[in-house]
Amino acid sequence: MTDLTTSPKILLGITGGIAAYKSAVLARLLIKAGCEVRVMMTAAACEFITPMTLQALTGHEVHTELLDETAELGMGHIELAKWADVVVIAPASANTIGKLANGLADNLLTTVCLATDAPILIAPAMNQQMWANAIVQDNLIKLTRFGYELITPDSGEQACGDVGMGRLPEPEVLCETILAFVARRHLPQSLAGKTVVITAGATLEPIDPVRFLSNHSTGKMGYALAAACRDAGADVVLVSGKRVHLQAPQGVRRIDVGTADEMLAVCLDVCRTADVFIATAAVADYKMATIAPHKIKKTDGVDGMTLELIKNPDVLATIVKTYPDVLSVGFAAETQDTETYAKGKLVAKNLDMIAVNDVSDTSIGFGSDDNAMMVFFADKYAKTAQKLPKAPKSTIARQLVDCIALISSNNYSIK
Ligand code: PMT
Repeated sequence: MTDLTTSPKILLGITGGIAAYKSAVLARLLIKAGCEVRVMMTAAACEFITPMTLQALTGHEVHTELLDETAELGMGHIELAKWADVVVIAPASANTIGKLANGLADNLLTTVCLATDAPILIAPAMNQQMWANAIVQDNLIKLTRFGYELITPDSGEQACGDVGMGRLPEPEVLCETILAFVARRHLPQSLAGKTVVITAGATLEPIDPVRFLSNHSTGKMGYALAAACRDAGADVVLVSGKRVHLQAPQGVRRIDVGTADEMLAVCLDVCRTADVFIATAAVADYKMATIAPHKIKKTDGVDGMTLELIKNPDVLATIVKTYPDVLSVGFAAETQDTETYAKGKLVAKNLDMIAVNDVSDTSIGFGSDDNAMMVFFADKYAKTAQKLPKAPKSTIARQLVDCIALISSNNYSIK
């Protein structure tokens, strides 16, 4: 998930629609992610979900009235409009979209939208026939022309029984999209225009049709890096172990692979247009010499079994050799002599940079939400090393992006 160093102020506008219940979860998720959230609701929204629910979830008064004497003493519509870093309207009904597109301001929500200079994100939600209506589409085009950002609705079964476009995306997806939008506006776009390919998770080497060799990598580190690179403005391709149970960050292209051979084939292809290659994946060093075509049976009276393994290709080293102009970032998972082994891999694989974690510490590394790393740079760079103290993987990922941006910048001095 996107990591935010400050607390963005999100003004959440809820309009009338059955999807309004999802906004309660969205408010909670945004607060959990570190945002300050205030809510304004139209009269129709209050028919679907009570202001009391949103008040309890956000800990703040929910704003519903445009002309409210007490509100004007506290946070009236102009204060609300000024307070927001971002206005999010989710769900946005066809009615509100129509009003906004035509500059109408007949309630608190539409008035605030006219009065704010904060960016406005709208997440339309409506019946599929209404979504397809040319007037609604025309209004949306108009709004995007006026600078509104559109969160495209999902397609699928609707509350009314119809099937088609118009469903409000799930709150987790909305939250991730909003956070990415906020990050894009507040974080330095240090990787803008760059294409970054990241490997993540564990590879699987089949032994027979029911068993495989693998490791403990969950993909958390690689996925955090994918989000951080995207937030820094990069186009990101995530080549992921297929048993990673995480959702790819919004806007990131995920390609699933099984074995190291498959990972290499995909990387060779996608790195054709890459500027940066980051190898966080825990790739199996060895695979079966021969994969048994049928399930290997237990033999009575025989206690042991020997599997013959052969070396897998080294994905990272092969990419560096094939595409020498791509900036290469390796990871090293070590349990002892971390610095020596990491520096050895940096030189042996001819990398620009390597980040090492001590995976004997179970509070970091495999599966944990935190990590702590030492980063070493190739000899040609002026910078030699950087310590990244224990922090959430999202924070470590942002710091790694800063390191990558530094050595890939044109102004950076190479020794
Ligand atoms: O996924 P998580 O649960 O969040 O855990 C994160 C992590 C511990 C997996 C991650 O932080 C990490 O350390 N990744 C590297 C794991 C690893 O395989 O390290 P290594 O020292 O064996 O390999 C060195 C480098 O060569 C790595 O960049 C690796 O991706 C690459 N490699 C290794 C072998 C191989 N056949 N091909 C490769 O590309």
